[in-house]
Amino acid sequence: MDFLTDRAKTLTPSLTLSIDSRAKALLAEGGDICGFGAGEPDFDTPEHIKAAAMAAIEAGFTKYTPSSGIPELRQAIVDKLAAENGIQVETAQVIVSNGAKQSCLNAILATIGEGDEVIIPAPYWLSYPEMVRIAGGTPVPVNTTEESNWKMTPEQFSDAMTPRTKMVIINTPGNPTGSVYSKEELEALVAVAAEEDILILSDEIYEKLVYNDANHVSVASINEEARRLTITVNGFSKAYSMTGWRLGYLAAPTEVAKAIDSLQSHMTSNPCSFVQKGGIAALRGDQQPVADMREELNLRRQYMVKRLQNIPRLRVVEPLGAFYVLANISQFGLSSTNFADKLLSKVGVAVVPGIAFGDDRTVRLSYATGMDVIKKGLDRFEEFCCQL
Ligand SMILES: Cc1ncc(COP(=O)(O)O)c(C=O)c1O
Repeated sequence: MDFLTDRAKTLTPSLTLSIDSRAKALLAEGGDICGFGAGEPDFDTPEHIKAAAMAAIEAGFTKYTPSSGIPELRQAIVDKLAAENGIQVETAQVIVSNGAKQSCLNAILATIGEGDEVIIPAPYWLSYPEMVRIAGGTPVPVNTTEESNWKMTPEQFSDAMTPRTKMVIINTPGNPTGSVYSKEELEALVAVAAEEDILILSDEIYEKLVYNDANHVSVASINEEARRLTITVNGFSKAYSMTGWRLGYLAAPTEVAKAIDSLQSHMTSNPCSFVQKGGIAALRGDQQPVADMREELNLRRQYMVKRLQNIPRLRVVEPLGAFYVLANISQFGLSSTNFADKLLSKVGVAVVPGIAFGDDRTVRLSYATGMDVIKKGLDRFEEFCCQL
């Protein structure tokens, strides 16, 4: 008896999570591993956020809440989007979920069906194509290059469009590229989307982590067309080091938000009640921990980029956002999986092969780890590359 649906059979497990757990298992066995695989900040959740959640538990705030989140949190998100992102929405347009990952899936399930195509600039966050497949749609990757700093150009977007195109996914700052789209670049992409009435899923989870003179621009703030077409996803995992809390949200056009509200009410119901209180403290409270984390991450980024750019045959475009460096390893004549496997087994350094992100020419290094690990790991990485 074949129990699985075609849908379940086509899914592949998250390679980033599996590589991270392999490196963690080797570490637990006493291995001397330098892990550059992490997709989460290595900082603790700020104290005032933890205190708010603990106070909520103490006060017995441990029951079901409205499935789209408590009104105070939705209002805090509305205020944040208006003040920081230039996005004006009503609370009914905001749905709080168990992480930005669920928000992305909710948005896709509500709008994508059999035969619909979704344009995804590659290298991409590996869950996007799988989510599109879960919904019965077809992911359409658009390969970007270093020449455009791993960003999709309006021409590439336009060329990938067919009569079945229903959505484009924009992730700025991007995982795994660290690329940050400028306002002008977004304006050009919005113009292409608006011409054919294409929905835009804008994943802005790394918005707080931008460096040098890069600015984060929210797609929905670009103009009236963008506001009409964009579903903005964001969350607490990366900015507030709350990956394990599972809290994210989206802001969507009213009819889309309404559909997502129903969808979520039958799937997970509300995100954890007291975690939502932590979310309010994160948005309304002291933002200094975010600035401190960004400053520390920036020092590591500068160090890592400089070291990698000095390795012969390795090509590295300076990333201006998130906490990843994407290195082009194509001159070494190995597939990304082969490169990553050898690197781990020979010198104990864990990176994520680019094939996971739809690009076999690259590997991703995360600098969300201590400077001592970064220095040691890069010494080994350099030695490994020089011996290839
Ligand atoms: C681009 C991107 N979007 C969304 C997420 C998911 O975030 P969350 O922990 O809020 O589900 C991640 C996590 O790695 C990510 O890299």
